[in-house]
Amino acid sequence: MIDSEGLREVIRSRRTSMFVDQTRDVPVSVVEELCELATWAPNHKKTWPWRFALFTGEGRSRLGETMAADMAHAEFGDDAKRTKTAGKYLRTPATLVVGCEPHPNDMLHRENRDAVAAAIQNLMLGATSIGLASFWSTPALTRPPAVLDLCGFHRDDRIVGIIYLGWADGIAPVPERPQVEVAHIDG
Ligand SMILES: Cc1cc2nc3c(=O)[nH]c(=O)nc-3n(C[C@H](O)[C@H](O)[C@H](O)COP(=O)(O)O)c2cc1C
Repeated sequence: MIDSEGLREVIRSRRTSMFVDQTRDVPVSVVEELCELATWAPNHKKTWPWRFALFTGEGRSRLGETMAADMAHAEFGDDAKRTKTAGKYLRTPATLVVGCEPHPNDMLHRENRDAVAAAIQNLMLGATSIGLASFWSTPALTRPPAVLDLCGFHRDDRIVGIIYLGWADGIAPVPERPQVEVAHIDG
């Protein structure tokens, strides 16, 4: 069992990083376990709003090409941007799309996204703990219809993050945090 110091070390050492070993696959079972860890995030009303779709191998090209097609359809970006998007999911051996279910209640709709964000952090901390680099990115479109179909998500789901995953083989720069300020009211 990881001790408290080990947990702090994992939290502080997680970096947004694409320094990965391109030749080493990330097993599906490893990503499945990370997704299971993700589901231990707090979730108001237990709506379980997260959705996961893993892309490896040629699947990563399909994801990029489908995203680029959705961008063209939405007239988003220029040709250069769409071409870049078509190839970008090949940057790491595994690319995980994380989606979020909507909710008819406005507060719960926002809380669903909060829960999915917490889930992604769980997933990335789990990744860090086993030597996987992770990189949370926001896609150009968060409701790209053909990508949602490809992922097996619903058309009214939104994408909260596209997470690049690979075995770490380099050290990303550490963005130092500003000193924390905590207001303390006692009485
Ligand atoms: C919601 C969210 C979306 C992000 N999207 C991007 C992104 O599109 N591109 C990017 O370079 N980094 C993205 N990041 C990563 C941040 O740039 C990164 O966390 C920040 O620079 C701090 O670095 P660290 O994670 O290594 O501490 C995103 C982070 C969050 C939480």
